[in-house]
Amino acid sequence: MNNTSIAGMKRTHMCGELRLEHAGQTVTVNGWVDRVRDNGGVLFLLLRDRAGIVQCTFDKSVNADLFDIAFTCRTEFVVAVKGKLVARDAAAINKKMPTGEVEIIAEDIRILSKAETTPFEIDDTKEVGDQIRLKYRYLDLRRPSMQKNLMLRHRVTQVARNYFDEHGFLEIETPMLTKSTPEGARDYLVPSRVHPGKFYALPQSPQQYKQLLMLSGMDRYIQITRCFRDEDLRADRQPEFTQIDLEMSFVEQDDVIAVNEGFLQRVFKEVLDVDIQLPLPRMTWQDAMDKYGSDKPDVRFGFEIKDISDIAKDCSFKVFKDTVANGGTVRLINVNGYADKFPRKEIDKLGEFVKTYRAKGLAWMKLAADGSMTSSFAKFLSEDEIAAIKERAGAKENDLLFVVADANWQTAAVALGALRCELAKRLGLAKKDDFKLLWVTEFPQFEYSEEEDRLVAMHHPFTAPMDEDIPLLDTDPAKVRAKAYDIILNGCELGGGSIRIHDPELQTKMFETLGFTEEKAKEQFGHLITAFSYGAPPHGGLAYGLDRLVMLMAKQDSIRDVIAFPKVKDASDLMTEAPERVDPKQLEELGLELEEHTADAE
Ligand code: AMO
Ligand code: AMP
Repeated sequence: MNNTSIAGMKRTHMCGELRLEHAGQTVTVNGWVDRVRDNGGVLFLLLRDRAGIVQCTFDKSVNADLFDIAFTCRTEFVVAVKGKLVARDAAAINKKMPTGEVEIIAEDIRILSKAETTPFEIDDTKEVGDQIRLKYRYLDLRRPSMQKNLMLRHRVTQVARNYFDEHGFLEIETPMLTKSTPEGARDYLVPSRVHPGKFYALPQSPQQYKQLLMLSGMDRYIQITRCFRDEDLRADRQPEFTQIDLEMSFVEQDDVIAVNEGFLQRVFKEVLDVDIQLPLPRMTWQDAMDKYGSDKPDVRFGFEIKDISDIAKDCSFKVFKDTVANGGTVRLINVNGYADKFPRKEIDKLGEFVKTYRAKGLAWMKLAADGSMTSSFAKFLSEDEIAAIKERAGAKENDLLFVVADANWQTAAVALGALRCELAKRLGLAKKDDFKLLWVTEFPQFEYSEEEDRLVAMHHPFTAPMDEDIPLLDTDPAKVRAKAYDIILNGCELGGGSIRIHDPELQTKMFETLGFTEEKAKEQFGHLITAFSYGAPPHGGLAYGLDRLVMLMAKQDSIRDVIAFPKVKDASDLMTEAPERVDPKQLEELGLELEEHTADAE
């Protein structure tokens, strides 16, 4: 048996940290063989660990036995190498490697573990399919880029812990086995063995607990915690994800915003050395929708939406005129300076694009560099009307206007908002290292749910309405604005929060407006309503999606790339193959029986 023990061969340095200043020292490194290069009598083993890669050199003419052992090493073998660190000859310096000025002249090697050929190369420059990456996630995580992402994530959580600790926040854990909460998504349920037929729900967020902690007098709470939501997955959504969750007592919206702006400034500076100017811009929800057609506006580029209903209402283009006559709007964006990038065929395809956002069509006007104009609708308009539209749009040569008319202002806005983002993406205007943060405030308290045919809370039912809008709860609830705020980064909702209702009377009223009967409210939130009757401080808070924050800081496109063991679109884990069927005995203990079709389904 070969000696595979680490004893006597423990590392003195990480592979990737060796530099010219260490030259002359005898060092030991431990790691994975990244590459083997045989130069005929001289063998180079590139050894990799979390910190990077270093070259170990074996010369047959100096030590043939050692050379022979090194010669048996294949990629991904785990080895320990001891030797003298020396400066490389000028000609051998590799500027691309941080350790490229030095190499280890090996004096000893021990193979700690052999490796089969891996299903894919551990190499960032090679494209590997997602399925295979996730099936062998532990190998995927050996890739330097993935290690970098997880190290960045670690830094972000460390800064969060330090910053909020310095600002008086206590880290307190809340239960994972809890009661179903109304955060908007479906719950993951956990059957109870002791209480057959009853279920815990995994938390969609610690919302109720953190509010109860404020009632307990904990004053300021933070938790970096897992949340579970059974919803359709996307690039920025996972069934389990992590929040930096916080809550504060005796505060108003500005206090919550101020402490969080401090955090954002700190985390960008410490982790990326990026300066964030404070205070961050703020935009009301209405302005965000009107100008950007989104409650998470990407402000890295222009193309803002403008309303031309007043100009279009009398024109003889039937689509525009009838839309306004029926209470709708006509809105446009000006893709200024890029008309030449969009030939007619492209424009027609964009018409299809906006239809996926429920727009009924896309009208356009193109101003060529020579001043000539082509348009899908101008022939129906008077010179004055065209001039007025151009003026409203600020249109000049090489500009391209896209117009959407719709009975519903929000449909027109959202379609144009999606179009502006799509065009910016195609034009390369949304740069990943341009970090544009802003707050969106004054969200509507309620939104209409077509599915349930009633008003539902846009944030959650504990969110306080704006003081001046409280009377509207009786007269026109759809108009009530909430003390809710989202923090947006580059068109992504990074986090959201609100000032909460701390007055039990107002909370009861809110449940009423949301259509809860007294019994239903008691059944779902009885513990909370009771708690609020024993003295509740005014309080509010916020939760960041940590995965999203790290994804954007790491300049990745999917939160999967910053989560060690993520799930795929159908919420399964390709590595462990969860979810999986269980032993019938386990089901029996839980008092559960499967319907036949689910039991047989693959
Ligand atoms: P909210 O539901 O807005 O608020 O969630 C807060 C933030 O969590 C992130 N997030 C997600 N990230 C990945 N995958 C998901 N499925 C997912 N869902 C949400 C988003 C989001 O902004 N309790 C309240 C916060 C509060 O009021 O204090 C809450 O959970 O970045
Ligand atoms: P149609 O009358 O449907 O053939 O449309 C004529 C032109 O008007 C086409 O360029 C359509 O894309 C455009 N159009 C139709 N409906 C709308 C709408 N709701 N908003 C903007 N343009 C539209």
